Amino acid sequence: MAVKKLPNPHMRTLETALSSVYGWAANPALKQVLQNVVSNKSQRLGLDEFTYCRMAAKSRGELHSVAEEIALGETSFFREPEQYRALRAMVLPELLERHNQDHKLKIWSAGCSSGEEPFSLAILLEELIPANETWRVEILAVDLRSRALLEASQGRYHPAQLQHLASPVREKFFLGHHGLDGTQVELDRRVRRNVKFRHANLYDPQLWQHLPGLFDLIVCSNVLMHMHHTAMQQTLNRIVQALVPGGYLMVGVAETGLFSHSKLKAARSLPSGFFVKPE
Ligand SMILES: C[S@@+](CC[C@H](N)C(=O)[O-])C[C@H]1O[C@@H](n2cnc3c(N)ncnc32)[C@H](O)[C@@H]1O
Repeated sequence: MAVKKLPNPHMRTLETALSSVYGWAANPALKQVLQNVVSNKSQRLGLDEFTYCRMAAKSRGELHSVAEEIALGETSFFREPEQYRALRAMVLPELLERHNQDHKLKIWSAGCSSGEEPFSLAILLEELIPANETWRVEILAVDLRSRALLEASQGRYHPAQLQHLASPVREKFFLGHHGLDGTQVELDRRVRRNVKFRHANLYDPQLWQHLPGLFDLIVCSNVLMHMHHTAMQQTLNRIVQALVPGGYLMVGVAETGLFSHSKLKAARSLPSGFFVKPE
């Protein structure tokens, strides 16, 4: 007779720890992935699941290793084509015009995964800024997953990951179009040099206290939708404070309708997902 597995009451403790440290909502999808991760990790360590959950909820290091495994990292270059068309045609040209005296631009990709998002922004700017002008473009790219950041910092991708890029972009910015060693292509250093990767938790208030100045554009795409209500609101408050007046926030198209903020206005002339902090 099959023995029915009893629900693990300590799973709740672990979900609560993940919610309070990373701001994540304990939805059914997260619970399912978490259950698998707990089974694997407890077996590997020779612990029963109850003991493992109690230990992981108390240990920041172990909690981080759980977070590293369960965070969804799905991403791609120019993920939402309509949004990237608007960035290229309207948002970035407007920001470049605003900064035509100081030639400085600050952008933040918050929840950057393996780098496709900040690198898409860097490619657009490389195309938009005239070759004879010197600009200081800083794209801060933050994520909590160390493995994703390691991949991102190498700037190497499989050719299949570039399939949605127009061929002129592939040819101009990626080396070895048929793959280095037949398997990978490498993003040009000219594009990579403007992107600084940093390991951090977006739900950690300290991160926001130590930000390097204010941002003209923050892209926080497909991150807020995985947060619980309080975390989403707090993160939005912090985003508002981190934007310059007139600065833009871009979120994922799928999450646009999930929140509103009294100090952010939907940018009506742009596709869904764009908000602006009024001057
Ligand atoms: C679904 S991916 C989206 C990646 C990219 N923004 C995009 O739209 O293509 C979400 C990313 O946010 C990161 N993330 C989630 N919660 C985070 C947090 N509290 N702090 C830092 N990064 C977080 C995950 O590790 C993951 O890489």
